[in-house]
Amino acid sequence: MFLKEVRFVDWPDDTGQYPFNLPAFRGISEITFPTAVTFFVGENGSGKSTLLEAIAICAGFNAEGGSAANRFSTAQTESALHNHLRLSWFPKVNRGFFLRAESFFNFASYIDELERECPTGYAAYGGKSLHEQSHGESFLSLFTQRFRGRSKALYLLDEPEAALSPARQLALLRVLWEHEQAGQTQFIIATHSPILLGYPTARILNFDASPLAPVRYEETDHYVITRHFLLNREAMLETLFQTDD
Ligand SMILES: Nc1ncnc2c1ncn2[C@@H]1O[C@H](COP(=O)(O)OP(=O)(O)OP(=O)(O)O)[C@@H](O)[C@H]1O
Ligand SMILES: [Mg+2]
Repeated sequence: MFLKEVRFVDWPDDTGQYPFNLPAFRGISEITFPTAVTFFVGENGSGKSTLLEAIAICAGFNAEGGSAANRFSTAQTESALHNHLRLSWFPKVNRGFFLRAESFFNFASYIDELERECPTGYAAYGGKSLHEQSHGESFLSLFTQRFRGRSKALYLLDEPEAALSPARQLALLRVLWEHEQAGQTQFIIATHSPILLGYPTARILNFDASPLAPVRYEETDHYVITRHFLLNREAMLETLFQTDD
């Protein structure tokens, strides 16, 4: 793949501060990316978005989401992690996109602004403003329209499932598969979706391990808990709703 490796360098001595205090990064030296699709999985707050954002900054993408060409900024919230990462590429790709669920609204407004300055009929976004499409529709427009193209690209997605119905999550699996067949795209995706995690050739990195480490699909909490819930819903709810007295 194009982004081959991320090395962690010049780690500060005092590691009590965010982001250096996160267990997922403790004692880590590098992460390799041998597959077309890599997932970041782990509990809330385990550091997935922090790492994704730092990689986006190192790759030259806007920390708030978007591509290298999309430069909008509403708040400076990125961590210092990007100063301690070294990316190894072969070849270096300049095309790509960082999709951050929290700032998608701002991104949609920014695209409206560009469209006013230089109308294209929202060609890369399904033919109309992202604000005029539902959350899920606009996300999928991005995946199916904008993420087309023949040149090599890296896409960093933070919880793309947030907007997507189960059926649309399956549609996204198909999009990933089409990209993998074409061999021009690398995806790194932070997700909580047991459907997306089921992508067959993906490498899954578990941020609940210290340091973070690969994990099999069937061993992720997301698979285990979801499966157990669907197969034993009533018993699980009974346990969950037990009163203490
Ligand atoms: N700017 C910041 N300053 C201090 N701590 C932060 C900052 N941003 C995030 N954190 C903390 O760092 C931890 C990791 O946050 P991060 O957003 O990377 O988690 P995550 O794995 O993406 O979680 P989620 O699954 O909920 O999206 C969290 O405990 C969070 O509270
Ligand atoms: Mg996150």
